[in-house]
Amino acid sequence: MERDFENESQDVIAIKRPSSQERTNQIWTVASGKGGVGKTFVTSSLAICLSKLGHSVVIVDLDLSGANVHTAFGMSPASNSIRHFFEGSKTLSELVIPTQVPRVSYIQGFWDAWTPTDLSVEQVRHLAPEMKKLNADYVIVDLGAGALESHLEMLKLADEKILLSSPEPTSIEKTYRFIESFVCHSLKDHSIPEAYDHMIQQLRNHRHGFSEKNFSFRTYLRENSGIQPDFFDALMTKPLRLIVNSCRSQANTELGHAMKSVCYKYYDFKVDFLGSIDYDNAVWQSIRNREPVLIAQPFTPLAGQFLTTCKQLIDPKELRAVI
Ligand SMILES: Nc1ncnc2c1ncn2[C@@H]1O[C@H](COP(=O)(O)OP(=O)(O)OP(=O)(O)O)[C@@H](O)[C@H]1O
Ligand SMILES: [Mg+2]
Repeated sequence: MERDFENESQDVIAIKRPSSQERTNQIWTVASGKGGVGKTFVTSSLAICLSKLGHSVVIVDLDLSGANVHTAFGMSPASNSIRHFFEGSKTLSELVIPTQVPRVSYIQGFWDAWTPTDLSVEQVRHLAPEMKKLNADYVIVDLGAGALESHLEMLKLADEKILLSSPEPTSIEKTYRFIESFVCHSLKDHSIPEAYDHMIQQLRNHRHGFSEKNFSFRTYLRENSGIQPDFFDALMTKPLRLIVNSCRSQANTELGHAMKSVCYKYYDFKVDFLGSIDYDNAVWQSIRNREPVLIAQPFTPLAGQFLTTCKQLIDPKELRAVI
C-alpha cells in the first residue's frame, strides 16, 4: 500500500512558519576528511528530519567524484544535472527535482563523467549566492571526501559547517588534517602570501616533529605578523560542527568530546561536537530497498539521534514537534 507521507508528517508536526518575506534560506554543508563515512546518508537523513519538522529542503549533490544522493532516495540519476548550471544552460532553480519525501528536493550532481570533475573556488563562489536564491528553508550540500580547495570554500561559505567522521582511526586522523586544512584555507584570504607560506612551513615542521611544542594557531598568529588574528576568532563564531557516524559502542559515542578537546589543546581551535549516530544495519538494508531508513523506520533510536542533531542546528524555540 502506498504511504501518504504528506499527511503523515502534517499530522505529527505543527510549527510556526515565517512568511516568505522573512525567509532566508540556510546553507548547511556536509564534509569529511575520509570517504565512505556516511556524508550522503547523513545529508539525506538531516533533510528528511527537517521535512518532518515542517521545513522545505533542497539537497545539492556536489560530490565531484560521483554523485549518489539520488540513490539515497531510491531514484535513478536525472539527466539534467549541476553540470548544466556551470555550463550556463540552466538556472539552479530549473534543476530542482522532487523526491518521494514531501518538501525534500535535490539537484543532481555530476554523474556522467569518467574522471572526477574539477571545480574551482571561483565556481563555488558563483554557486553559493545562487543557492541562497533557491525557494527552500534549507539547502544542504553533500560534498565528496577530502580537503579539496573547492570543498573548503563551500564549507567556508556555509551557514552550518558539518564535518563527519567515523570512529575509525583512519577517519579520525583525516578529520584532524581536514580541520587544519580548513583553518589554513580560511586564513589564506586574510594573509599576505609570504606570511601564509611561513605558517605552512611551521605547520610542516611541526608535523615532521621538528618542533616540540603543540602548534597553536592563536599563539602563532599573535607572535607573527601578516595574517589577521581577528579573522581566526571570527572563524569560531560559526564553528565546524562535528558528527561521529557509525558508532558501535559507548566509547565511540563519546569520541566527539575527545576530538573537540584535542582541537582545543593542539590548535587552540574550537570545534563543536554536534552528536553521534549509531551504526545500524537498517541503513544499508534500506538503501537496497530503495527507501530511506528514516522513512521506512521513523521511530527508532537512529531517528531520535537525527532529530536531536537537527534541533541543535535550528532554533529549538521555533519548533512545536509533537511526535
Ligand atoms: N550509521 C550507519 N550505519 C550503518 N551503515 C551506514 C551508516 N552510515 C553510513 N552507512 C553505510 O556506509 C556506506 C557509505 O555511506 P555514504 O555513501 O553515505 O558515505 P559517504 O561519506 O557519502 O561516501 P563518499 O565519500 O563516497 O561520498 C553506505 O553503504 C551506507 O549505507
Ligand atoms: Mg557521498
